[in-house]
Order: sequence, then C-alpha cells, then structure tokens
Amino acid sequence: MSKNIERAAQILLKSKYVICLTGAGISVESGIRPFRGPGGLWTELGEPPMDGYQRFVRDPKAHWEEIMKRGSRTSEFARAIGEAKPNPAHTALAELEQMGLLKYLITQNIDNLHIAAGSKNVAEIHGNTQKLRCVECNTRWSRDSAPFSLEVLPPRCPECNGIVKTDTVMFGEPIPPDVLRVCQRESLRADCMLSVGTSAFVYPAAGFPLEVKRRGGVLVEVNLYESELSPICDVVLTGKAGEVLPQLVSALRSVK
Ligand code: APR
Repeated sequence: MSKNIERAAQILLKSKYVICLTGAGISVESGIRPFRGPGGLWTELGEPPMDGYQRFVRDPKAHWEEIMKRGSRTSEFARAIGEAKPNPAHTALAELEQMGLLKYLITQNIDNLHIAAGSKNVAEIHGNTQKLRCVECNTRWSRDSAPFSLEVLPPRCPECNGIVKTDTVMFGEPIPPDVLRVCQRESLRADCMLSVGTSAFVYPAAGFPLEVKRRGGVLVEVNLYESELSPICDVVLTGKAGEVLPQLVSALRSVK
C-alpha cells in the first residue's frame, strides 16, 4: 500500500464532511475520452464554439430540428457515452458513500455513470445527457419518458410553458440555479474534498476545491497527470482513477 494512499485514507477518516469533485478522467476507463490532455477530444479537434447556448436561445426550433435530423447519426463521443458502463472508480466512490465516508459527489460529467454505479448524493453540475430540462423552471424529465410531444418544436414545459432543452449544460449557458445551490452548499460544509479526474480548468466547478482550501480544508487529488489543482493539494495520488480509488477504499476498509 503506497504511503500516499495511507495518508489519503487517514485524511478521509479524520475529516468530518468529505465531498468529491469528478471530471472526465474518471470515465476514461469506461471508454469515454477526456476533453483536454493526452487523448483529449479537444486536444485533437480543438475547443468547440463557446456560444452554443446563445445560438440555442436565438433559435431553439432550429436547434431541435438539428437534433431530430441527427437522429441515430450520433457522434463518437455520444456513442461512447451510450455504451459506457461504470468502472471500478465509479464503484469505489459509491462504496465510500455507503461507508458513510463520502457525503456528496459533484460531477462535471454528463454520462450518468455515478448514478449507474449506485451513488445517491450526486450533483450533476453540467447536466445529464439522459435528461431534458425546462430553461424557465428547471423541471427535468428522462428523455425516454418526457410528458410532452416532440412533434411541436421547440417542446414546451407542461408546468410553465417554458422552452425545454437537453439537460446537458451548453457552453455559455448559466449553470441551473438549483444544482449550483447544492454545489455551493456542499462546498461550504466540506472540510475535505477529493478531486478525481479533472483538469480543474472550468468554473464554477474548479472553484469548489479552492473554496474548501480557502476555509482551511484539505484537498486530495486522484489524477493521471498534473492538473491546475495539483500544486495546492495536500495529497496527490498519481494514477488511473480505476486503479487508485479501489486501493483507497481497501485501505479504508482495513482501518474502519
Ligand atoms: N484517471 C484519472 N484521471 C485521468 C485519467 C484516468 N484514467 N485520464 C485522464 N485523467 C485526467 C487528466 O489528467 C485531466 O486532468 O482527467 C482530466 C480530464 O480533464 P478534462 O478533459 O479537462 O475534463 P474535465 O476536467 O472534466 O473538464 C471540465 O470542461 O469542457 C468542459 O463540460 C466539459 O465537464 C467538462 C469540463
């Protein structure tokens, strides 16, 4: 057992309220490419336009017509998400929650894998690709059982008649206020934050570990490479999340 794993286990056991922030790196071993760094989608293709939401607001009908036209012609990324299953990293975080050691999980991922792995207290700050959301009242529905027809575009919310879009947060779109409030509440409660598989570039998600640190909390990082956060973390566990997190869980099981 590496010294750093033992140190991280001791920190989690001593902390009163541990939360976790995950990014694309935790799903790489489920077959979903990250965005940045080696093998990143945008490392290869370049960053997408940052005004997706502004274009949606200008013409939501055209946006939906594009989605309906695309139909089964989905991107490599969407196909990977559709086929992905939770990997041992997702399972390890669900176990930490069941052990009472992880209170909340904030994920930047839209792939639903934490929920599929059994995590219950999950805030999906960038949305969930399996859901739709009303932009006015934030009501969400599963894509498979939305209570409105997609004959009329853009679909309207049966609760408030607001425009409905995919729950995935677009570039330029404000983070839905309900999920942002949960993330802020949890970051204020935490005295320890585990950061797993995130480059910590994108705000407001990248700000939550800084908030915990600013209030004297402890940061533990699991990452395959150095991230923006690494220099201020108390322990950095370098490696694949699917290998490191199960080791951390077994270290905790052996002392709990
Ligand atoms: N195990 C652990 N970490 C890994 C692994 C792995 N197997 N593979 C890659 N990583 C790390 C990389 O070193 C990098 O730090 O995962 C991180 C992935 O970084 P990004 O691709 O930038 O993903 P993320 O941090 O989630 O991006 C945040 O940016 O583009 C937006 O909405 C998008 O939610 C995303 C947000």
